[in-house]
Amino acid sequence: MTDRQLRWGILGTGLIAAAFTADLALTDSGVVAAVGSRSQTAADRFASEHGVARAHASYESLVNDPGIDVVYVATPHPMHRDNAILALEAGKPVLVEKPFTMNAAEAREVVTLARERRLFAMEAMWTRFLPHVAVVRDWLAQGTLGEIVTVSADHGQWFAEDPQFRLFAPALGGGALLDLGVYPVSFASMVLGSPSRIVAISDPAFTGVDAQTSMLFGYQSGAQAVLTCTLRAKSPTRAAIVGTDARIEIDGAFYAPATVSLIPRDGEPTVVRSDHRGRGLRHQADEVTSRLAAGELESPLMSLDETVAIMETMDTVRAQAGGRS
Ligand SMILES: NC(=O)c1ccc[n+]([C@@H]2O[C@H](COP(=O)([O-])OP(=O)(O)OC[C@H]3O[C@@H](n4cnc5c(N)ncnc54)[C@H](OP(=O)(O)O)[C@@H]3O)[C@@H](O)[C@H]2O)c1
Repeated sequence: MTDRQLRWGILGTGLIAAAFTADLALTDSGVVAAVGSRSQTAADRFASEHGVARAHASYESLVNDPGIDVVYVATPHPMHRDNAILALEAGKPVLVEKPFTMNAAEAREVVTLARERRLFAMEAMWTRFLPHVAVVRDWLAQGTLGEIVTVSADHGQWFAEDPQFRLFAPALGGGALLDLGVYPVSFASMVLGSPSRIVAISDPAFTGVDAQTSMLFGYQSGAQAVLTCTLRAKSPTRAAIVGTDARIEIDGAFYAPATVSLIPRDGEPTVVRSDHRGRGLRHQADEVTSRLAAGELESPLMSLDETVAIMETMDTVRAQAGGRS
């Protein structure tokens, strides 16, 4: 992989597979070369809707396609581990949808295999690669905030109560924390690292998965994070990083392209407005292309150790809150 476009193989044909493919058309870093499904019908439908050259009737056939450079795992969370391992064992680098796996033990298995095989792997935590998050990272690196005191972030969406729907179905890894809560947890991790204290509560949905989970994290530095997620209501989806000298506020939805403000304790705010084209999924694809071209095995912006640490944090949240692990 050097100066040509990365050839993506899309594993799964659902909602995010379609959104990722549409966003990839907005960058010249890669093209979708093939799609794989559990059925030929779904693969053919996806290929014809998105102009994809090859449609495979199994995930095995997709990962063994010699015409793809990288596999994007876009299946429900409980399948991420097996699907990522399938791709790695076929010698293909992987971008794995969030959450990386169901828990930290599964994440470690995937990471261990990727490292053994010396293949690139990354969690598709697309927020990390968005332009406004790069601005946030710059402000943090410059020490503009002083000492960080609190981080807050929420992610609430309203969903009709359908037991078949992925977010409510236990067999499909349903629940607020893994699907929505991973964004606030990952955001806090980017800013403050891993918490040393975790307090969490959950309440179940009608299917038993967590409908709502709220978390308090404490850090060695004395900082605290207040994070929440719910499947029951559309929340402001804002985030803030509050420091002794200034604070950063990210407009909703903080995890998607957004306007960000730096507000000093005294003085005028700096506002960086978003004029983003597309949904924002292409930046992670650009990152994969750059890292592969450089011969690197992971991204420092979303490292595998941090992905495992985030899964460990969410394991602890679920143990604390009484949810399934
Ligand atoms: N980055 C984001 O903004 C974002 C947004 C939504 C979802 N996601 C993540 O992407 C993953 C997929 O979510 P989605 O909303 O795209 O799900 P979805 O619409 O239900 O699609 C999932 C796809 O996975 C495949 N699959 C394999 N085993 C399956 C099973 N037992 N039941 C159902 N489908 C199965 C299916 O493709 P075939 O039938 O073709 O094999 C299906 O189309 C989740 O992990 C989620 O967290 C990320």
